[in-house]
Amino acid sequence: MPDVVSLIRVKRDNERALTDAEIGWLFRAYLAGEIADEQMAALLMAIYFNGLDGPELRAWTGEMIASGERLDLSAIARPTVDKHSTGGVGDKVSLILAPLVASCGAAVPMLSGRGLGHTGGTLDKLESIPGFRVDLGSSQLREALAKVHAVIVAAGPGLAPADRRLYALRDVTGTVESIPLIASSIVSKKIAEGTSALVLDVKTGSGAFMPDPARATRLAATMVALGIEHGVRTRALITRMDTPLGRAVGNALEVEEAVAALQGDGPADLMEVTLALAREMLDLAGLPDADPQAAIASGRAYHAWREMVRAQGGDPDAPLPTASEVLAALPAPRTGYLTRLDALCVGVAAWRLGAGRARKEDSVDYAAGIRLLAKPGDYVQEGQPLVELHAERHGRWADAMEALGEAVTVSSEPPTVAAAVIGRVGERDVERSREPGS
Ligand code: URA
Repeated sequence: MPDVVSLIRVKRDNERALTDAEIGWLFRAYLAGEIADEQMAALLMAIYFNGLDGPELRAWTGEMIASGERLDLSAIARPTVDKHSTGGVGDKVSLILAPLVASCGAAVPMLSGRGLGHTGGTLDKLESIPGFRVDLGSSQLREALAKVHAVIVAAGPGLAPADRRLYALRDVTGTVESIPLIASSIVSKKIAEGTSALVLDVKTGSGAFMPDPARATRLAATMVALGIEHGVRTRALITRMDTPLGRAVGNALEVEEAVAALQGDGPADLMEVTLALAREMLDLAGLPDADPQAAIASGRAYHAWREMVRAQGGDPDAPLPTASEVLAALPAPRTGYLTRLDALCVGVAAWRLGAGRARKEDSVDYAAGIRLLAKPGDYVQEGQPLVELHAERHGRWADAMEALGEAVTVSSEPPTVAAAVIGRVGERDVERSREPGS
């Protein structure tokens, strides 16, 4: 029988790769309480420094999946496909994408999370809709999926429970930012939900979890390879998160913008990312000729949204919560072109207004958030307010304004407004990177 201290030393000294049997034993012993948290934390730190090679990562992810239930969606008649984003500011893409892709012929079983820190969570956004329920059990999920072809629900505790334990440990031991640990955490949950195909939106830039594009691309390639190894057709897009996506940040404000987008009135950057992801999803689902833009124009996508909201207990016609206090703020420092409106600053400001939570147990204020009155590339006049703050208590203004202090740059030259989608990792890229000599 292996002993944990020897395995920690093997990984610490980068002596050799751990075997499948050793990784299997580590997970069983940890989940049975035979390995202490401090021992697992030491192993995670060794992995943080020395990584996991391909076979180790495959075995590690396989153990995370096997630690819980794996949803069986084989009875769903349509091809299943999901999307996962690594998280960003104003990222309401999932709200649009699930009904949009369903309206084009696929089934979208989307298991999502809540917001933590400056990035918002899809579940919090949806819960701003009166009556909307995200806590469907697996049989309710299958029923809703068979009926309306799109569901967005909370991942239950039975799905990859090893990830829950390991993530909590990584969070308090400085071992979150490791590509193999992030990749196994994300991919194991997505595979356990039973989807046949998966598109990853890996964000990069100031408001992203992976600000450096080269690291974001490595994370994307690692996740694509892992998904494929576990039998799920997987691709990734790398998208910019230097500035918030769209013009709304905050739960109810983002739902409002997503509904407008489904009705054909979405901001250009939001639609660029959404349509690019939709096309990848439909292609992976075996529906390459489906046209998501036509689905929006015809009203089919909006109809699918209304059906999804109703199937999950929500009222698509109910008014969304609105803030009692609204303040036009952040005057442009000079006349010229807005060249930077920093995603991280806006995300932190929205969070301070009450849109996000600092701890898992905190509640969120659905009406709180920020509307962007200008976006990079716009010509602005000195003194013109660039944002609108929404909150329940104006006592929160000062903290939000402090976060926005360094958020903007205005220049006399117009910026080159870069495309929002900056890279793509497909099945062939992963195969190519594994060829000898590459
Ligand atoms: N999201 C996850 O689910 N896991 C990570 O490790 C990081 C982000």
